[in-house]
Amino acid sequence: MTQFDELGRMYDDSAELPWRKHMEMFTVLKLMGDLTDAAVLDIGCGSGAYARAIRARGAKRVLALDESEGMIAHALARERDERLGIEYLCGPLPEAERGRFDIVLAVYVLPYATTVEQLSAMCQSAFTALRPGGRFITLVLHPHSTDEPDYYRRYGFRLFSDHPEVDGAPVTLELQLGDHRVTVSARYWTPHTVEEAMRTAGFRTAVWHRHDVDPDAVAEHGEEYWRPYLDRPHAAIIECGKAGDAKAATAPGGPEVTG
Ligand SMILES: C[S@@+](CC[C@H](N)C(=O)[O-])C[C@H]1O[C@@H](n2cnc3c(N)ncnc32)[C@H](O)[C@@H]1O
Repeated sequence: MTQFDELGRMYDDSAELPWRKHMEMFTVLKLMGDLTDAAVLDIGCGSGAYARAIRARGAKRVLALDESEGMIAHALARERDERLGIEYLCGPLPEAERGRFDIVLAVYVLPYATTVEQLSAMCQSAFTALRPGGRFITLVLHPHSTDEPDYYRRYGFRLFSDHPEVDGAPVTLELQLGDHRVTVSARYWTPHTVEEAMRTAGFRTAVWHRHDVDPDAVAEHGEEYWRPYLDRPHAAIIECGKAGDAKAATAPGGPEVTG
């Protein structure tokens, strides 16, 4: 039993929130680039929102993994209805799948490692899944997010931490969707520790990217709606390259480096 087992519907609904759909997902999908014929692994796929979006963009294969039986059951129920051809698995990456993926995605999964060893194991699993030249795209809690819990209320969530931003500090995320409110417990990991876990796993590069907003959504909601998040994002997007990837041949960045 995990804290996510009952949250499949909630995470599907959250993927429709403007900040997730028009900013987070918009940026991540843009970063993923042309997915035609790509093999993509979605680790910690949750309800499958990214897996479906990736498949819709032409990926030839999407394998989506999660450790939560409830999340996978929810995603599989949708797959049975929609028949998109996404493969879902509850559990770790099977050995036979090592080295097979062009892109590995893990959106808000690293913050659920409770120890440095788990954080390293997650990065190692992503590295192992990639073919040479492949990329790992992942989201972590941002080192410069604000400690005012209500700062993100307009986007439909609140963030609390009673602790300074040190490795492993507990962070509570409260998501509000209509009348439903759920809280999940995550961990903050410093940029140094995150990058060390990535380097130890074997990644040559780790580039930190800022969020971008779909221009249509800027027009729809107005720039003032997006500015507070863009000024103090609660999450950072990191892109790691496995050797052989000419595109990602930049030096490891840090949170000030933008895409
Ligand atoms: C906050 S949810 C995000 C779900 C999805 N990626 C999204 O963006 O909507 C985090 C998910 O990661 C999963 N998870 C956490 N640690 C994991 C691990 N070590 N292996 C696989 N899944 C994991 C959880 O079960 C949960 O479904």
